Amino acid sequence: MIIDVPELSLVALVGISGSGKSTFARHHFAPTQVLSSDYFRGLVADDENDQSASADAFDVLHYVAGKRLAAGRLTVVDATNLQTHARAGLVKVAREHDVLPTAIVLDVPESIAWERTESREDRTFGRQVITRMHRDLRRSLKQLSREGFRKIHVLRGVDEIAGAEIRYEKLF
Ligand code: CTP
Ligand code: MG
Repeated sequence: MIIDVPELSLVALVGISGSGKSTFARHHFAPTQVLSSDYFRGLVADDENDQSASADAFDVLHYVAGKRLAAGRLTVVDATNLQTHARAGLVKVAREHDVLPTAIVLDVPESIAWERTESREDRTFGRQVITRMHRDLRRSLKQLSREGFRKIHVLRGVDEIAGAEIRYEKLF
């Protein structure tokens, strides 16, 4: 599947833990184009998993995203982005810089995400967290189009995600 992404846009990855967002980001974008919530939690709290640091982490992430967009640089946000308010924050930053917000949803079966998460050392939460995220994702899929994203790409299943190719759209 070809994913059209405006040359200058704010790309929000959307997906439950274990859906492969960070893997996807590494494969398709340069490391400096990707702002990950884990990284920013680490920056402000010395612990990428410290959820109590999320508000501060996202403040800083939004700030850096704004600076990048002001300089005309494509920016990818690697976070679950499963909550309306999290996505609204990104749409706001994009709009402030006259940049198109794009969503790329990685929709994998809950069982696969759980299998992957269970085998990770850096993730300690239980299955019920993945189940809750999966419910949030289903809700998100219904809401996304009303939230101001210019383009919404939904990649369904492991094969579609693996076969995805990014194509940049020229703006002018
Ligand atoms: N993985 C995999 N095959 C894929 C994609 C991911 O085996 N096609 C593995 C990764 O190597 C990693 C785990 O699944 O060990 C989770 O992938 P990751 O990209 O880290 O998922 P995220 O969506 O980024 O998870 P989180 O929200 O927890 O950061
Ligand atoms: Mg990740």
